[in-house]
Amino acid sequence: RKKIIIDTDPGIDDAMAIFVALQSPEVEVIGITTIYGNVYTTLATRNALHLLEIAGRSDIPVAEGSRVTITKGTKLRIADFVHGADGLGNQNFPPPQGKPIEESAAAFLVAQANLYAGEVTVVALGPLTNIALAVQLEPAFSKNIGQIVVLGGAFAMNGNVNPAAEANVFGDPDAADIVFTSGADVLCVGLNVTHQVVLTDADRDKLAQSNGRFAQYLCKILDVYFSYHHDACNMNGVYLHDPTAMLAAVVPSLFTYTEGVVRVQTSGITKGLTVLDNRKKRFDEVTGWTDKPTVKVAVAVDAPEVVKLVMQR
Ligand code: BDR
Ligand code: CA
Repeated sequence: RKKIIIDTDPGIDDAMAIFVALQSPEVEVIGITTIYGNVYTTLATRNALHLLEIAGRSDIPVAEGSRVTITKGTKLRIADFVHGADGLGNQNFPPPQGKPIEESAAAFLVAQANLYAGEVTVVALGPLTNIALAVQLEPAFSKNIGQIVVLGGAFAMNGNVNPAAEANVFGDPDAADIVFTSGADVLCVGLNVTHQVVLTDADRDKLAQSNGRFAQYLCKILDVYFSYHHDACNMNGVYLHDPTAMLAAVVPSLFTYTEGVVRVQTSGITKGLTVLDNRKKRFDEVTGWTDKPTVKVAVAVDAPEVVKLVMQR
């Protein structure tokens, strides 16, 4: 079974992605690392511990991540208006019993990649600070880590923070650029793919009828996420960003990919923009900014199958 570490800012779609992973026989979750994004890092840690308790999997270690960006002068953008003030649909769940391990997220990522060289997939569902810190901490990290699947970017389409940027890349653009140019085996799953994967109002009604393992819990926390999509996006459903990225790690055959250099705009009005250069022959004599290792970028997805698997699992 593929070993995975989930780097996450839970977050309602993060919660769904974590549950999908725990229910997937193809993978073994060997740890969760936390990051700011939908909530501040300390709350992300509490939520990760809480979700593992809900799942009866408190045996899985949680390592707390960075509280600050690598990008200088960046104020954290917390998406409480999408996920609720607690990140989990304003449900006021009691605090978890468990505690994070002593090791930082970056140190944990480095250690696990060393221990199981080439075998660990990181599924990164928030801003990429912890992964970039791991790259900086250990020069061999990008070789030791098996793959990094990133929910991040918006390739040749509008973003969801500003017209250019997707939220996780916008959250720490320098970190994203470090990860994308690190030479690791990176797969980006961006909005160009996840905006095709919608859990509809009707699907939610089916979940509400279900006595499946996580159905009732998810229906509670999903209300806030549905309201946001109804009001702000005029949708009769919600985007399944993080569960889609999770399934790119679990069932890669559901996606098709292109490959090229991805760079991130780290400042200015297009801060967080991801630029993909997948020309057969890259030529960039003037500035050389695409003279970097390539990454994979998902370009198509079997959306009905992803929704079906999320519902089933
Ligand atoms: C991403 O931003 C977060 O709000 C979601 O959890 C997802 O990871 C979508 O842009
Ligand atoms: Ca997320």
